[in-house]
Amino acid sequence: MRLVAAELVDSREILPGQWLQSFHAPLLAAGSRAGQFVHVRAGDWSGLVLRRPFSFNTIDAATGIITIHFRTVGKGTDWFTRLRPGDTLDMLGPLGRPFEVDSRSRHLLLVAGGLGIAGVRMLADEAIRDGRQVVLLFGAASAREVYPSSLLPDEVEYIVATDDGSIGHHGFVTELVPEYEAWADQAFACGPAPMLRALAGLAAGRRERLGVARLGRKKGAGRPDPIGSPRARRKAFLQVSMEQNMGCAVGACLGCVVMSVTGTPQRVCREGPVFASDEIAWEAGW
Ligand SMILES: Cc1cc2nc3c(=O)[nH]c(=O)nc-3n(C[C@H](O)[C@H](O)[C@H](O)COP(=O)(O)OP(=O)(O)OC[C@H]3O[C@@H](n4cnc5c(N)ncnc54)[C@H](O)[C@@H]3O)c2cc1C
Ligand code: FES
Repeated sequence: MRLVAAELVDSREILPGQWLQSFHAPLLAAGSRAGQFVHVRAGDWSGLVLRRPFSFNTIDAATGIITIHFRTVGKGTDWFTRLRPGDTLDMLGPLGRPFEVDSRSRHLLLVAGGLGIAGVRMLADEAIRDGRQVVLLFGAASAREVYPSSLLPDEVEYIVATDDGSIGHHGFVTELVPEYEAWADQAFACGPAPMLRALAGLAAGRRERLGVARLGRKKGAGRPDPIGSPRARRKAFLQVSMEQNMGCAVGACLGCVVMSVTGTPQRVCREGPVFASDEIAWEAGW
């Protein structure tokens, strides 16, 4: 984890109220992975004390440029939109645990709801670089909020769903998943909690729907992987990136916990934000 002064090099409103900002931050660009995030401090003259968490949207290690993609929802994000090239922001990162792709996985299904695209966008770059095939299912309220395909690598198969049917599939993005669940070796999702909960439900029933037999237990096998371990994520069909309001983002304040299936609270900033979907107690109501 490093504390760096990241210099703004470009700032664009790519969709109504949604901004893409590029920063020169070579120390963050080196070694950060898809699924991790930065904790960003607004400037002294903003009047804001708490840092704000943002996913790494893309990273170019060669140029040292990182991007964040955010929606203006309050004072902090509004303040960021008034920055000009050359201004610097204080960023702490990389924080949290990344997505884990099994070395045998060839077909990755990415599912994003709205701003959740920022959480999985970088995984598409990493997967294409590693020679994998990527299908990205994206859901939005209407055509006005659809992430521009021009911002994605050409290799990604991009499929859109809108709630009002103004473009793409008319309905929820989760309705597109059954078509791809046999093709996909692993799936990765980021978006609103109800979407993640629905996907976790689909993932739980996938084996039975596809008629995949459970393998018999090998000697010495069957010991569960510790919750939050890279191995548990790598073995899961579905990994989800969770969002909780955060205070410290370094594991100290317990302001970001969600409940695991074993009843152990998990800090989204430390054990997450990426979890195997079957690690989370979705009905616990945290
Ligand atoms: C790990 C992680 C990664 C994130 N990545 C992104 C990202 O890539 N792009 C993006 O647009 N947003 C992201 N968020 C949410 C983002 O941090 C909040 O939108 C931001 O902090 C709001 O700051 P603000 O000062 O503008 O709003 P505030 O004035 O602080 O709050 C305004 C509204 O935003 C809500 N809000 C505040 N903090 C959060 C939060 N942490 N999560 C969800 N809602 C929040 C509040 O409940 C309130 O309704 C992420 C959150 C987490 C935990
Ligand atoms: S935000 Fe403080 S423990 Fe996670």
